[in-house]
Amino acid sequence: MRSEGDTWDVVSRVGRTALFVAASRAAESKQADALIQDEFAALFVEGSGDPDTIRLINDPELWAQSSLSTGFIGLRSKFFDDHFLAAAGNGVRQAVILAAGLDARAYRLDWPLGMVVFEIDQLKVLEFKREVLTDVDATPKADRQDVVVDLREDWPSALIDAGFDPDVPTVWSAEGLLMYLPGAAQDALFARIDELSAPGSRMASDAVEIGDDFRMLAEQQAQQLRDTQVDLTELFYTDDRLDPAEWLTAQGWRAAIASSDELAERYGRPLTAGRDALGQLVNKIKYLSAVKQS
Ligand SMILES: C[S@@+](CC[C@H](N)C(=O)[O-])C[C@H]1O[C@@H](n2cnc3c(N)ncnc32)[C@H](O)[C@@H]1O
Repeated sequence: MRSEGDTWDVVSRVGRTALFVAASRAAESKQADALIQDEFAALFVEGSGDPDTIRLINDPELWAQSSLSTGFIGLRSKFFDDHFLAAAGNGVRQAVILAAGLDARAYRLDWPLGMVVFEIDQLKVLEFKREVLTDVDATPKADRQDVVVDLREDWPSALIDAGFDPDVPTVWSAEGLLMYLPGAAQDALFARIDELSAPGSRMASDAVEIGDDFRMLAEQQAQQLRDTQVDLTELFYTDDRLDPAEWLTAQGWRAAIASSDELAERYGRPLTAGRDALGQLVNKIKYLSAVKQS
């Protein structure tokens, strides 16, 4: 169960979900029709020493049987890559990756000159990431800044202390984050993003639907635990929250929602059917993108 101020590293609790996302990106990168190439994902998994995830990326059969192998992570990663690159193409030079986890976009995307990328996450997650990347002498392709802070706390102050400029447009992402925040913290997150966003700023996030699939997931806990050793039903918050697209629209953003099926169509990569409740849940993720109007 979650508690106020709980903490983790990449092999425990919420942090472990970042490791499974990295494993999924490593598996996606190996596909013949891969939608992204993330050369760092496997390094994070290997560096964690975690036997379950290491086995998952090294055994294609095991991966093929996994709940996570529906192809959703390729779509999701590509969606957020495109979001950042489109913003940069439109002259935005400041990016904030909320709950960056083991996201290596600062190292793998071709950012324009002058791009600054702020990565927010908890201390042990960012420490681990730094160790792995330092070991391989990885060089970021942008001015990358760590911001160690909990997103349930006063993260805007930490971001501004790290050099964030609220007067220029920003491209934001909250990828794989919202379900790990209590409703009030999610609502505050969007309010703070709005406050910190100059006109022309862009925001993207994804969200799972807490409906029948989620309830089935709780019932199928045993299967879920065998696959990932992470019980998402204990880590997700399911309390009420505002609808981000509606809320942002009311604040003067232009917002759009895409379903996973729409992304599959956009990228010419159909999802395979979810083999269990987790697979079904991730195949129904909805994607928000929004631009703040002047
Ligand atoms: C599923 S992972 C996604 C990581 C990354 N965005 C990606 O897609 O690869 C969830 C991430 O959210 C971070 N996270 C969750 N709640 C957080 C909080 N309250 N403060 C800071 N980070 C948080 C975790 O540490 C973890 O890295």
